[in-house]
Amino acid sequence: MPTVAGYEKEYVSRTKRSRAHFEQARKLLPAGVESNVRFFEPYPFYVKRAKGPYIYDLDGNRIVDFALGYGPMILGHNHPEVVKAVKEQVGKGTMYGASPDLAIEYVRMVQKAMPSIEMFRFANSGTEATMHPIRVARAYTGKEKIAKAEGAYHGGHDYALQGVDIPEDMLKDNRNQPSVPYGKGIPKSISDLVVLYPFNDWAATEEVITKNADDLAAVIIEPVQAGGGCFVPRDNYLKKLRKLTKDLGIVFIFDEVLTGFRVARGGAQERYDVKPDLTCVAKVAGGGYQLAGFGGSRKIMEEIVPKVDGNVYHGGTYNAHPVSVAGGLKTLQILSRPGAYKTIDRIGDSLFQGLRDVAEDRDIDVWIESVGSLGQMYFTDKEVVTWRDAIDIDRERWNHWFMYSLGKGVFFGVPHADEHFFTSMVHSEKDIQYALEVSDEAFKRIAKE
Ligand SMILES: Cc1ncc(COP(=O)(O)O)c(C=O)c1O
Repeated sequence: MPTVAGYEKEYVSRTKRSRAHFEQARKLLPAGVESNVRFFEPYPFYVKRAKGPYIYDLDGNRIVDFALGYGPMILGHNHPEVVKAVKEQVGKGTMYGASPDLAIEYVRMVQKAMPSIEMFRFANSGTEATMHPIRVARAYTGKEKIAKAEGAYHGGHDYALQGVDIPEDMLKDNRNQPSVPYGKGIPKSISDLVVLYPFNDWAATEEVITKNADDLAAVIIEPVQAGGGCFVPRDNYLKKLRKLTKDLGIVFIFDEVLTGFRVARGGAQERYDVKPDLTCVAKVAGGGYQLAGFGGSRKIMEEIVPKVDGNVYHGGTYNAHPVSVAGGLKTLQILSRPGAYKTIDRIGDSLFQGLRDVAEDRDIDVWIESVGSLGQMYFTDKEVVTWRDAIDIDRERWNHWFMYSLGKGVFFGVPHADEHFFTSMVHSEKDIQYALEVSDEAFKRIAKE
């Protein structure tokens, strides 16, 4: 029977320089990486450069990239028009302290794509893009608690790192699930301010939100939940939650950090025709540069405007960094060209449908959830609708498929079974076919186990 080591064999033999680099890097960087998510066993590879749908590692391997910077690189790496715009901006200066003139043009592009955004403020990461609007919602409603979905990921601040994972011995009924901090170092008192609801289970969600309505400033949601994989909203779940939060006077926040400008130009709010009160964007919004932001209803966003009787603090040295704004603006301009999302969705569908077909041919039980260019493959024999459906997926099989593919030069996304992967606008049919052939070989071996 093949072992994990068997699946890693080609990766290990092709990444000797990365291995040596890892040995050095781990002396200086915890786990040898700059973000915990980047680490995987036996060691991560290190990147020299990237172009289009490929990244090139230290050993000179060309890797078909379905991680795409964990989301931003929807145009592929180093898109020539984006590079040109960024270079031009670098020539004009990189940090002003005062506002760059391009920022307004950028906000107009965002507003065109997401008309719910009447006013907008810049930030630098998805984490900031969710942290600020939660505070704004508290100020606006005068209430303190927030509700987030079980398993959802909204970044690295203390209020977001709640219920991201729930250890099995702490799992309760999904209508009465206490919040659990994700990792150490988060004050216990924060968990008391966070209510968990189960994405896609409407009856339970309605009960949880209604029961806590008097204390809830905001319900925050990943409208396609990518925390824990990829969970696609069913049965008008988002529309129902929109109506409920409106009726109960709770600010409804769409965290479109991952879905914004990816699942449609106007993100999930366009794709599912739902108007949130506030929206968070990052990733594709910056086209590979550090740009994020949040915005929405003028009445709510005006909580930030300095007032005599106090306002919500919002600042940041690098907000609307001119280079990021130039890169982000060009990216959004390219994405606004006719046919862009038709191409993006077509390429996504051919990979995700191709994987379904290949797995079926090899008699491998998988459930694949996808929306256009975003998706995840779960090794399971059941349908995956809610985060709880994915608790007992076969992570070992996923690791085998992932490692085997990486050894053959295909990087299937964020390197963990509870994450997701993406396609870009520039993956060719040949790239997709290659990824499917490699997956077919991996499935053949897995089927033999
Ligand atoms: C939905 C969502 N929100 C927030 C974040 C945090 O973004 P960042 O890593 O830029 O802080 C992420 C990152 O993956 C995300 O997927």
